[in-house]
Amino acid sequence: MDIKKIQEGTFLNKKILVRADFNVAIENGDVKEKFKLEVCKKTVDHLSAQVGSKIALISHLGRPEGKKNGDFSLGQIKDELETILEKKIVFVDDCIGGSVTKALEDLAPGEIILLENVRFYDGDEKNDSEFSKKLAENFDVFVNDAFSVCHRDQASVTGVTAYIESYAGLRLQEEIKNLNRVIHEPESPATAIIGGAKIETKLPLIKRFEGAYAHILVGGKIANEAIDQGIAFSQKVILPIDFADDRLDIGPATIKRFKEVIAQSKVIVWNGPMGKFEQSPYDIGTREILDAVVESDAFTLIGGGESVQVLEENNLMDKISFVSTGGGAMLEYLGGNQMPGIEALRLKK
Ligand code: 3PG
Repeated sequence: MDIKKIQEGTFLNKKILVRADFNVAIENGDVKEKFKLEVCKKTVDHLSAQVGSKIALISHLGRPEGKKNGDFSLGQIKDELETILEKKIVFVDDCIGGSVTKALEDLAPGEIILLENVRFYDGDEKNDSEFSKKLAENFDVFVNDAFSVCHRDQASVTGVTAYIESYAGLRLQEEIKNLNRVIHEPESPATAIIGGAKIETKLPLIKRFEGAYAHILVGGKIANEAIDQGIAFSQKVILPIDFADDRLDIGPATIKRFKEVIAQSKVIVWNGPMGKFEQSPYDIGTREILDAVVESDAFTLIGGGESVQVLEENNLMDKISFVSTGGGAMLEYLGGNQMPGIEALRLKK
C-alpha cells in the first residue's frame, strides 16, 4: 500500500487533526451506530501515546448545507465518544479559527478535542482552498482515518492535505487491506451478495464481480429493477426466483437457493439488504441470508449503513470477518474507482 502511514511518522509535540466519520444516526439523543465511533480508537491511542501530541477529531454529521444547525451538532456525540475512547473530550463549537487555537493551547495531557461539524461551513463540500487552509493552520499534521468519506473530494478529506503533512490512520489502512483481499485474487469460490436500491449504482459493481467471482446473488429493490428492465447477465448472476408479497422481499425458494451457494463459498462480500428489512415481515430474507453468512466458514466482509445496522441490532458484529464502515465508499472502492481521499495520501514517487 503506497500511502503514508502513521506508523511511519513521529508525532512528538505535534498538533494533529484527525478526520473521523461520526456521521451517525441519533435518535432522542441516543447514538445509534456506535461502531463508527469505536473504529477511531486505535488511531487515537496510537497518536496520544506520543509525548506532547495534541489531537483534535474532525467530522461531518448529516447535510446541514453550510449552515450552523443544532440538530447536526457533533456536541450530541461527546458523551458517547468519551465513554468509547476512555478519554476526557473537550468539545469546541467551531472547527477553524481562534477558539480551536485556544483549545489546543489549554488542552491537558490525556484530553482530546472534538471539533464542531465541518459541514457548518459550505467550504468543506466545495473543497474551497481558503477553507482548507483555515482547517490546516491550527495543526502540524493531518491524519485521515475515515475510509467511509474517502470517495468525497472535500476540504476535510483532500483539501487540507495540500497544506500539512498527511497520513493514513490505522482504521483506514485496515479497510484498504481487507477490501483489497476480497478484490484481488479472492479464494475460490467467491460470492458477492448485492441488494438494496439504485440499480444504476449497483450494476457496474455486479459487472465487475462477474470477472473474478463465481456467484453474484442479487436481491432487494435492484433485483426487481433488473428483472423489470430485462437486464441480461451471465450465468454467474443469480436473480430471485420468487418473492414475498408486493415483491418487497425475496421468497422462500430464493432464500434456499442463495443459502446453498453461500454454504459452498470461501469468500463472501455483502452490500445491501435483500428486501424492505425495516418493515416486518419483509426482513425475513435479509435475516435468513445473514444467518447463513454468519454460519459459513468463509472470509466474510459486509458494509453499508443498513447492513451494519442489522448486524448491530442482532449483536452479530463479531461474527463477520470484517465489517466495513463504508457505504457509498465501499461501493466505489469495490467498483474499482479512484478514491480522492486515498489518492491524496499517496507517496510521491
Ligand atoms: C457515510 O455515512 O456514508 C459517509 O459519512 C458519507 O456521508 P455523505 O454521503 O453525507 O458524504
